[in-house]
Amino acid sequence: MSVAKPLPHDAAALHVSGTARYIDDIPTPAGTLHLAFGLSDIAKGQITGMDLSGVRQATGVIAVLTADDLPFANDVSPSIHDEPLLSDGTVHYIGQPLFLVVADSHLNARKAARMGQLSYAEETPILTIDEALAADCRFEDGPRIWTKGHVDQALSEAPHQLQGSINMGGQEHFYLEGQAALALPQEGGDMLVHSSTQHPTEIQHKVADALGVPMHAVRCEVRRMGGGFGGKESQGNALAVACAVAARQTGKPCKMRYDRDDDMMITGKRHDFRIDYVAGFNDDGQLLAVDFTQATRCGWALDLSLPVADRAMLHADNAYHLPNARITSHRLKTNTQSATAYRGFGGPQGVLGIERVMDHIAAELNLDPAEVRQQNYYQAMPQRKMGLDPSPLQTTPYHMPVSDFILHGMTEKLLETADYHNRRAAIADWNARQSILKKGIAFSPVKFGISFTLSHLNQAGALVHVYQDGSVHMNHGGTEMGQGLFQKVAQVAAHRFGIDTAQVKITATDTGKVPNTSATAASSGSDLNGMAVANACDIIRDRIAACLAELHQTATENIQFKDGMVQIGDERISFAKAAQTAYLNRVSLSATGFYKTPGLNWDRIKGEGTPFFYFAQGAAITEVVIDTLTGENRILRTDILHDAGASLNPALDIGQIEGGYVQGAGWLTTEELVWDDKGRLRTHAPATYKIPACSDRPDIFNVALWDEPNPAQTIYRSKAVGEPPFMLGISAFLALSDAVSASGPNYPDLQAPATAEEVLNAVQRARG
Ligand code: MTE
Ligand code: MOS
Repeated sequence: MSVAKPLPHDAAALHVSGTARYIDDIPTPAGTLHLAFGLSDIAKGQITGMDLSGVRQATGVIAVLTADDLPFANDVSPSIHDEPLLSDGTVHYIGQPLFLVVADSHLNARKAARMGQLSYAEETPILTIDEALAADCRFEDGPRIWTKGHVDQALSEAPHQLQGSINMGGQEHFYLEGQAALALPQEGGDMLVHSSTQHPTEIQHKVADALGVPMHAVRCEVRRMGGGFGGKESQGNALAVACAVAARQTGKPCKMRYDRDDDMMITGKRHDFRIDYVAGFNDDGQLLAVDFTQATRCGWALDLSLPVADRAMLHADNAYHLPNARITSHRLKTNTQSATAYRGFGGPQGVLGIERVMDHIAAELNLDPAEVRQQNYYQAMPQRKMGLDPSPLQTTPYHMPVSDFILHGMTEKLLETADYHNRRAAIADWNARQSILKKGIAFSPVKFGISFTLSHLNQAGALVHVYQDGSVHMNHGGTEMGQGLFQKVAQVAAHRFGIDTAQVKITATDTGKVPNTSATAASSGSDLNGMAVANACDIIRDRIAACLAELHQTATENIQFKDGMVQIGDERISFAKAAQTAYLNRVSLSATGFYKTPGLNWDRIKGEGTPFFYFAQGAAITEVVIDTLTGENRILRTDILHDAGASLNPALDIGQIEGGYVQGAGWLTTEELVWDDKGRLRTHAPATYKIPACSDRPDIFNVALWDEPNPAQTIYRSKAVGEPPFMLGISAFLALSDAVSASGPNYPDLQAPATAEEVLNAVQRARG
């Protein structure tokens, strides 16, 4: 058995000993040049003059490129060609690359990049959600609106109604390895690009367009990233294209890595949102109708904002049946960094909207918020299986039937193991006796749709070789960013051949081996690539079996691969011997594999169809304490029960759940992005932008897996786990709100991120 084992990350030993190789560690040939961008100083306007003589004369500078020097496409957009590598004369945000410096060292390139003399005709930038709404400055013609049922009527007929609004900030990815690329010119104009990217095919594609060559002339290789979190789906394009263009121009290898401040100034972050809501409900807290207005800042270029905003709409229900719902989404264009993919891809924002509604309803009716949530859950599945319930399945606001809803059982179990009800009573007691410190506790679930909503992306390829000695070389289109994908997929390959994972060599993602891949994203890395690798392995295994069956005059059914051996009737030979036998009998021991997710159909304009193969689910309970004099706070305890299906690797899955939760809690608490009124990002380094540290993790952190097989036919019935647990961090935010509530009679209306300042403000509001 290789699957289901809690094996460590395949590179764990390399990570902790500092020997895992990242882009910046790749030994470079002599003469390698280094790049840096000269950045815009204003948020909106036209360039009227660009004096780069100082840059050209600076120490170590070899070349300086502007848009006019680019030989072919000046575009690094992953979507609609609205993102020039170097400004075409118009400036869209502070931090936009205007010119490119090529120098003999990283430091010289960065120093020279500051010496440009730019003059601009400045215009008034559009920075905030309200400014963009007022100016009707947006992507797409108008808001996207999806509806189900009769919202206005149901709202007016509901016994209770409330309304409110929640702001939620963006989030810097803060991958430990910053964006980086290295381009090595090859003979005949070909280009080899090493890039820290979640999307090697996209890099290949954009580099080919920039060099005016077919995709076959460009090869992109990625062994690993030091974290991506969505920030390397598209944001690596600029560095890779810059390196390739400069390498073409100079004939030298070219390398670029952003310094942390540059990385934060230049690249996109999570979309910030404001969600306004009107909700109608009954005395029991059952939601009868809800009207959401989601407004999001997409920044200056489209990038992936449409599917991100779509996913926020797709998760406006989270785990709750909304009989009548309207979701309006404004995708606003602003003079800020182009917001991009970030773990959850809009899902967390949509989920926080409905979780706020649940919280608000519970406060209004003075009910236990966990019970209000359970009350509103989608109907469970078990009765249906037994045929006791003939009613049709409940549907999401986008009209997809919810058939595998398991949160009822998960919630019961978690409330029990975390001793929720007793602790809630004890906290109320404690709070009554404390005047300065207040504790809070909150439960929140997640139901996250798995699949790319752009249906054609749900495909993957693999390439597997078995060598004569029985060792295996495995390659697929997925990329490794710390999530453990490579180990999981190696476990699948080992399992198919009945061998140990040590016999499977994990190799770098390479567009020359597996072509036309999708980004490793949407949490579907192991679902898609696991299946593609299984397919390739099975093809080879069946060929070996057919060869052995013929030699041994037996049927292929009598041949089994397990425990490193091949059983042929009563005889047993090693897998290595089997591979060698197949080789000597001239059997091909190399195969490609392919997979596409079945059953998807989705109309994103109407908001109707089946965008997801299945839902991954989970639940968390967080307890916090706040200081009502300073707003300072701590997470005291977190309990999580998460659904990873039949886990491919429980150790890696638990790591993903812990990391996802902490990152989600960071988004909603200490991580605050601040732009000034000129549009300059003021929080562009760890000195001013505070991600959770080890000491911020919960003192008590209990994570368990639900561990039931996925009813959908995924690889070994596992479920995707990369993004869903991020949304469990919402329970930390809700617990803070609960703690604040203990300090006064009013609903605290907590806004995100709940920094110490915001907690303090909310305490004032609660007191009235
Ligand atoms: N975990 C680590 N350690 N590093 C990362 O960059 N990215 C997350 C998640 N977990 C990430 C991570 C995101 S945004 C996604 S979409 C998934 O991993 C992608 O990998 P998977 O599809 O293999 O789960
Ligand atoms: Mo993840 S945001 O889908 O890369």
